[in-house]
Amino acid sequence: MTSYLSIFTYILFIIAIHMLSTPKVAYKGNLLAFIGMLTIIITNLISLPKHILIISSSIILLGAIISITISQKIKLQNLPQIIALLNGFGGLSASLIGLTEINLNPTNQTLITFLLTLSFITFSGSISAYLKLNNSNHFKSATKIKLINLILFTLLVLSYFYPNKTLPSFIAFISITSILFGFFFISPIGGADMPIIISILNSLSGWATVLVGFSINVPILVITGTIIGASGIILTYIMTKSMNRSFLKIFFLPPSDSKEKSNSSNKHFNQGNALDAAFLMENAKKIIIVPGYGMASSNAEHELVTLAEILKDKYHIIVKYAIHPVAGRMPGHMNVLLAEANANPDDIFELKDINQEFKTTDVVYIIGANDITNPLAKTKEDSTIYQMPILEVEQAKHLLFVKRSLSPGYANLDNPLFYDAKTLMLLGDAKEITSQIITHLEQNIPNP
Ligand code: TAP
Repeated sequence: MTSYLSIFTYILFIIAIHMLSTPKVAYKGNLLAFIGMLTIIITNLISLPKHILIISSSIILLGAIISITISQKIKLQNLPQIIALLNGFGGLSASLIGLTEINLNPTNQTLITFLLTLSFITFSGSISAYLKLNNSNHFKSATKIKLINLILFTLLVLSYFYPNKTLPSFIAFISITSILFGFFFISPIGGADMPIIISILNSLSGWATVLVGFSINVPILVITGTIIGASGIILTYIMTKSMNRSFLKIFFLPPSDSKEKSNSSNKHFNQGNALDAAFLMENAKKIIIVPGYGMASSNAEHELVTLAEILKDKYHIIVKYAIHPVAGRMPGHMNVLLAEANANPDDIFELKDINQEFKTTDVVYIIGANDITNPLAKTKEDSTIYQMPILEVEQAKHLLFVKRSLSPGYANLDNPLFYDAKTLMLLGDAKEITSQIITHLEQNIPNP
């Protein structure tokens, strides 16, 4: 019976992962994965002796209460940091299992040492990524840190030749070195390379789960870990390709350290307001919306979708969303938010499918986005976004940039488009400005 149930849950997980790749059925996929996980937890719990069953159920219940409470308080704009933390917790739990197993299971010493290394790296690397996503620039001298990394990495490799891997001093050494390596490995990486790091950490947490599965002989962990690890690798590959990045360069060469500061004070720019924006939109035939991190941070997705629907339904204008692969702060960040706000999936286009359309577009509404439109990515060799493909918004007739100031985005790079003659800067909060535009549009709806 248990083995039939296990096969049932393996199949559920595989179907669930498949469904997660399409926004329309992703919610149902998530539900299937939840049912699979619940089935496994319950079947494992009922096979335990009574006293352990009580302790285990209480711990699981406590964990569930804490996570439900926290997840209800999390603002949607903080989702990327939470994903990084969850990856970290995955790594931490795998390392705790490794620490208990190394003495219980001495025949598998090398496997468990590898598990400890990988899971502690995942844990501390994710904490480092969490801090970076919270805008803490915890280390500045990247070149020195890459040297420290090289030393730590050499120490880790050499330690595998040590014969007695169950010695407490050896376990302490490997754990501390792995924690330091994971933290320092991630900390100097920044700018356009951060999304790639997020998907690598995701993948690492999967492979750590696979090692746990092998070391305690639980096939479901091997299966789910492989799915997470492999999909993380595929995502990493897609990210590196779509961002024109070389995997080796990200990790082994010192990052470019752009000294460019936003020197906006003496540059001329055209400032507009919601009324100007509404006027340009009303008179357009085709509008493309480019959402970025600022849309997420101001929670403007519902207003944005309302605006798009009014323009389509009441003004009969073609409206499309252009999604850059690294817009926001996590893979798929904009897609998640637009789906949450019920945007029509048929109006949402990836960079490669829409970039050709900007030259036939009247207005581009760039809401809280900056780096993903910055033409300096093509020319500024010492910037962290150099060679990253951008949305070619400058080819459109009019650009509307919604942001609170002229300050740079994540890559700390001024954007020349702010000072372009065809740009109107709408300075203010993304949600407020979008609501004001909606008000103006609603007042002027043409008679049918
Ligand atoms: P950014 O270049 O970071 O620009 C976002 C802009 O939003 C900022 O310039 C900011 O300007 C504005 N903003 C912030 N809060 C706002 C609000 N409440 N209302 C209006 N505007 C607001 O974002 P992007 O264009 O989406 O590019 C993403 C960047 O993040 C890339 O460099 C990418 O490499 C990096 N990154 C991506 C990921 C993933 S996986 N997607 C992960 C880590 C890092 P003001 O302060 O002037 O308002």
